[in-house]
Amino acid sequence: ESKLIPYRGGYTEFKRGHAIRVREREKEVKKQLEDKKAGKKQRHPEDLVEKIRDYVVKFRFYPPQVSGDDAGGISVHDVAFSYTGKKPWLLHGLNFHVGAETRVAVVGPNGAGKSTLLALIAKLAEPCEGEVHHSRRVSLGRYSQHFDEIAPYVQMSAVQFLTSQELRRFGAGTESPELAHKCLGQFGLPSHAHTRPMKELSGGQKARVCFASITCRKPEILILDEP
Ligand SMILES: Nc1ncnc2c1ncn2[C@@H]1O[C@H](COP(=O)(O)OP(=O)(O)OP(=O)(O)O)[C@@H](O)[C@H]1O
Ligand SMILES: [Mg+2]
Repeated sequence: ESKLIPYRGGYTEFKRGHAIRVREREKEVKKQLEDKKAGKKQRHPEDLVEKIRDYVVKFRFYPPQVSGDDAGGISVHDVAFSYTGKKPWLLHGLNFHVGAETRVAVVGPNGAGKSTLLALIAKLAEPCEGEVHHSRRVSLGRYSQHFDEIAPYVQMSAVQFLTSQELRRFGAGTESPELAHKCLGQFGLPSHAHTRPMKELSGGQKARVCFASITCRKPEILILDEP
């Protein structure tokens, strides 16, 4: 509504106050409808009220492209890692397998090593000990906390980026501008932002471009670092 509504108190007070506002508005909208049906004099179009719609963000990721091959996915064997290449390890004793149908959340405080772990899984960092194994056909889509993937290409528009050679070399993006527009639309990027240089987009809009870029090609495994 392009209006700033102030609420008093903490979050609980806000929730209560907001719920009351929504209910009152619903009553008003209902009355407006009843008046219209009863043939009463209508309000001036500028004074008509609409239902309050909550801002909801929904992303639909494609279901994983499971090949039926149980061995598909990523395996981590006895991995140890530190940025200095020696002890003390930041991460050690890592042994696990992630298959296409698995969903894993990695939780921990700042600096615990979550992004580092994801970089190891994506083979963007080399373990000091042990190994990370990707099954032959596995394709990855990675969303990084700091938009690393976009940073070198911010002069490009989202459509140029999604169809760029650079992106397609990494198995992301698409060759078709039509598909790029469709994909960006699916992730809620307004069409006027599709052809603007990405450096002019907001943080949230850049995040939508990242999601579109990694899902265009339907990867088998998505790695999402603080999406
Ligand atoms: N490129 C780097 N070189 C050296 N040390 C690094 C580098 N990146 C991260 N670190 C260090 O490794 C540790 C783990 O960092 P990491 O980014 O993996 O943490 P995180 O769990 O993702 O934290 P956050 O919740 O803040 O994202 C931190 O102590 C950090 O200072
Ligand atoms: Mg991190």
